[in-house]
Amino acid sequence: MITRETIDKVFETARVEEVIGDFVQLKRAGSNYKGLSPFSDERSPSFMVSPVKQIWKDFSSGKGGSVVTFLMEHEHFTYPEAIRYLAKKYNIEIEETEVSIEDKVEANEKESMYLVSEFAKSYFQDILLNSEEGKAVGLTYFKERGFTTDTIAKFGLGYSPETWDAFTKEALSKGYQLNYLEKVGLTIVREDGKHFDRFKGRVMFPIQSLSGRNLGFGGRILTNDKKAAKYLNSPESEIYYKSKVLYGIFHAKQAIAKQNNCYLVEGYTDVIQMHQAGIENVVASSGTALTPDQIRLINRLTKNITVLFDGDAAGLRASIRGIDLILEEGMNVKVCTFPDGDDPDSFARKNSYDDLVHYLENNAKDFIQFKASLLMNEAQNDPIKKADLIRDMVVSISKIPDRIKREVYIQECSRIMDISEQVLQNTLAQLVQKDIAEAGKKLKNQEASISNSNSLEIVKNDTQVSPDSVNIIYELERKIIEMLLLYGSLEADFEDYILKSNDEGEMIEEKEVKKVKVFERIYLSLQEDEVELANPFFKDIYNDLIDYYNQNESFNIEHYLMKLTPEHSQLVTDILMSEEKELLHNWEVKHIYVKTKTQNVSQYVSETIVSLREYLINKLIMDMMNSFDKENENSLEELMSTINDYNKLKVNLTNKIGRIRSTYL
Ligand code: CTP
Ligand code: MN
Repeated sequence: MITRETIDKVFETARVEEVIGDFVQLKRAGSNYKGLSPFSDERSPSFMVSPVKQIWKDFSSGKGGSVVTFLMEHEHFTYPEAIRYLAKKYNIEIEETEVSIEDKVEANEKESMYLVSEFAKSYFQDILLNSEEGKAVGLTYFKERGFTTDTIAKFGLGYSPETWDAFTKEALSKGYQLNYLEKVGLTIVREDGKHFDRFKGRVMFPIQSLSGRNLGFGGRILTNDKKAAKYLNSPESEIYYKSKVLYGIFHAKQAIAKQNNCYLVEGYTDVIQMHQAGIENVVASSGTALTPDQIRLINRLTKNITVLFDGDAAGLRASIRGIDLILEEGMNVKVCTFPDGDDPDSFARKNSYDDLVHYLENNAKDFIQFKASLLMNEAQNDPIKKADLIRDMVVSISKIPDRIKREVYIQECSRIMDISEQVLQNTLAQLVQKDIAEAGKKLKNQEASISNSNSLEIVKNDTQVSPDSVNIIYELERKIIEMLLLYGSLEADFEDYILKSNDEGEMIEEKEVKKVKVFERIYLSLQEDEVELANPFFKDIYNDLIDYYNQNESFNIEHYLMKLTPEHSQLVTDILMSEEKELLHNWEVKHIYVKTKTQNVSQYVSETIVSLREYLINKLIMDMMNSFDKENENSLEELMSTINDYNKLKVNLTNKIGRIRSTYL
């Protein structure tokens, strides 16, 4: 592991504008730089780099973050790869760490598994290329399939000898521990302690991670033994989670990003043959439907996916189901079939690069259109089937997150299936209605449990209400995070109203002004109301920031961003760059002056907190009125008195906003 010190040094030294400048042409724009987005095709610049904040934001794709996240997004580096890249660029010597014992044991365990896996890969390769058996059996097989020497080397293909424990013996003699050999699944240890090779007598396909580490293997049998599985795969392990891995992703990632499309095939040999034919943006799901994690892996590189199907129709029907998942992730899906009897492997082998490219370009059809035509053929003159088909189509369409796209598809389907748009719209509306009804039921139950506890202090903040209020609460919470990020460690004067008795013995409120740090003020105010942020991202960041401020005197954005997950760092940069967005949009035309908020931070903070309280109280009152049991007389009285209490609290709050506001008028 790279030491904290090295990472800190890299962050201190690296200039975001210099690093990005190597990939994007940047022009000065006030205190920022701007340029064309490297993540989308565009003519007018919407890509911003802030040298002051040391962050970047791409307004066209929504991406943003630190210098490291840029390299991760743009170059598809892992975090350590990005750090190493920067260290090299800035001539910083990399120190590797000493870590805590537990971390070390865990890291060591995984590391040992990677080492074993890596060793196995080179062992199988060596056997394939250099042993008599490997050459005669394995290499001959690969050559018969048309794989060249270069291809075999590129994909690290290998051969596992037809002996019970040849690999295990060799690994043990090289000092690898049986424990790890078993954990990665290369060796099977029987109850009587005897051990043997899982992949004996198979040709080996190493499975690599996005960054090229060896995670596991697929092994293909060469005999026609009907009882044995054609392919055997490594079992799941701490280093191999099948649902998160795509075969070929390491060799395909650059091409996927560059071509802005990913071909999805079924098998190892399809990937390899397509590569050899010159098409490198290909990955395989290894015979199963894509998982959401796999889809997200692709989604990081491109929004476009083209699924390549083998010829037969039965398989087609089954595979089509899985595609709704891809639509759900907001990706654009195309499908392409091959002539009967061909799969991508055989087709790529038979055709030249030009023919292949041509075929794919001409035969890839939009998924929704494809599905509609396919099902239409099947349903033809069967009205019942046709009704099913309409629902089936609409289910797929309803998965698409983009409303405009859904609209376009409704029109398309109406045309292809010869059904009025209205019918399709209604079916879609019914589906959506059902979802809402279900969400509503859930909400009801929650509300019931909230209104049962009518203690004044606990104001539970849950967002599952109408879209409008969701936006209000979102904006308020976002403001709270923004204030923490921008002014957290700043000291400001805050007004408080303290209850005191005056000379006549009456209780009065007296104004008191105190100097407090912004983060403390926010924390104490929310704490007082026992309010938790509703948005899970905001909540995480909020807790994290409060911790940070408690431990650090001042706030360093670079330091902070570096600790965040990509999602969180995205959100944080969004917030930090929102002012720049206005600048960008009005840049040349309007010369808009964005006022700085620092002049009246305490007002800003107080208003936000009061608005949040007010909002939550309103919501609580609404909830109570909605779920009120009309049959029960006693409960009416109780309800009225509780609502009354809340209303008083509200007036009180609003007055305070008024007072705060007036001091700044
Ligand atoms: N597969 C598997 N286990 C099996 C069969 C298949 O894991 N018993 C996976 C493999 O990843 C395989 C893919 O499903 O590559 C597609 O299966 P298939 O079409 O049968 O294999 P091909 O790749 O076409 O293999 P080949 O051409 O060598 O027969
Ligand atoms: Mn095949």
